[in-house]
Amino acid sequence: MVTRRNVLGAIATAGLLPRAWAAAGASGGAAPSEALRDIAARKGMRFGTALGHGARQFGDPAYRALVARECNVIVAENEMKWPALEPQRGQPRYGPADEMLAWAAQQGIAMRGHNLFWQAEKWQPGWLAHEDFGAQPRQAAEQLMRAHVRGVCGHYGKQIASWDVVNEAVDPADGQLRANALTRPLGAVEQIALAFRLAAEYAPHAELVYNDYMRPDTGSAKHREGVLRLLEQLRRQGAPVHALGIQSHIGSWDEGKADLTQWRRFLDQVTGMGYGLLVTEFDVNDRRLPGDIAVRDAGVAAATRDYLDVTLSYPVLKDVLVWGMADHISWLQNWHEAPRTDGLATRPCPYDAQLNAKPMREAIAAALRAAPPRTA
Ligand code: XIL
Repeated sequence: MVTRRNVLGAIATAGLLPRAWAAAGASGGAAPSEALRDIAARKGMRFGTALGHGARQFGDPAYRALVARECNVIVAENEMKWPALEPQRGQPRYGPADEMLAWAAQQGIAMRGHNLFWQAEKWQPGWLAHEDFGAQPRQAAEQLMRAHVRGVCGHYGKQIASWDVVNEAVDPADGQLRANALTRPLGAVEQIALAFRLAAEYAPHAELVYNDYMRPDTGSAKHREGVLRLLEQLRRQGAPVHALGIQSHIGSWDEGKADLTQWRRFLDQVTGMGYGLLVTEFDVNDRRLPGDIAVRDAGVAAATRDYLDVTLSYPVLKDVLVWGMADHISWLQNWHEAPRTDGLATRPCPYDAQLNAKPMREAIAAALRAAPPRTA
């Protein structure tokens, strides 16, 4: 159980309290002196966020300015997903993603691509479920995948230097690979390997990433095992997969406890196979922390620091992206799977709804400062 005492105890042990509270202090949200992008750059790293095209994010000049100040890499929150780029079969719609890409380029901010294939059927284009693959389903499925990758990677060319090629292939419940309209004709591992081969063909310059949400907590053990199994199979097949994207939606998702020893073991195994690492979607679910804001924010900051200290200790990891810079725009506000039981708004991001820096922002800065420098 999380009590005020043990949250504060953990934070005191982590040495976070004075800095954390200074960040939330009387100045009422003055911009922190050194931007996260600059702290990261000194280490040979990048810091960034997901950015949505809507009125409260890209459409809000204050939010956009915050992103420009803190970040040197962004990723579209939804706008480069297949259903967004091709809502009707054969009718591409690149507008919103292109607008954000043009803005980013103007600001000197890189943009990652997310994602070419999302394995859960729920997140694939609606029309894909009704696709008739005819008498030669294997060839037809491959052709469809090829057309998609050729279209999207051709459209972006070198502007996107890092792609989440496949997202969330492993079912966390049992560690098995998810099935969908493309895996059924092709086979699950084969379809994933094909996705990477196509990405290598049409975006030969790009870093190709397998992205998933396995976490350090004990409840995520099967998920981690399944991801390791998949990465081993892809290696054996010689699929061009360069790195594992660690989504990093951490915090209280289930009854499990964070086990950073297991986490380190997992990252050792992944890097031992020669894969790079990225933190692609970091946020901290605060649902089991008390409602009291100071206590809650301190708990989120402590979890941030503990997690990033271990994860950033791997020098192959060069990108840290959060999934939203400020609480009010976080996807977790409406995410049905793990809501706060007290009905309070969640506080999973480095800035609050008024765009004031929170202790979590300072914890990220501290973890970046403590990370070993990356060599080119
Ligand atoms: C989420 C977006 O934030 C939501 O707006 C959308 O409704 C669903 O997708 N893992 C991922 C991201 O890889 O693409 C998800 O983004 C969050 C979990």
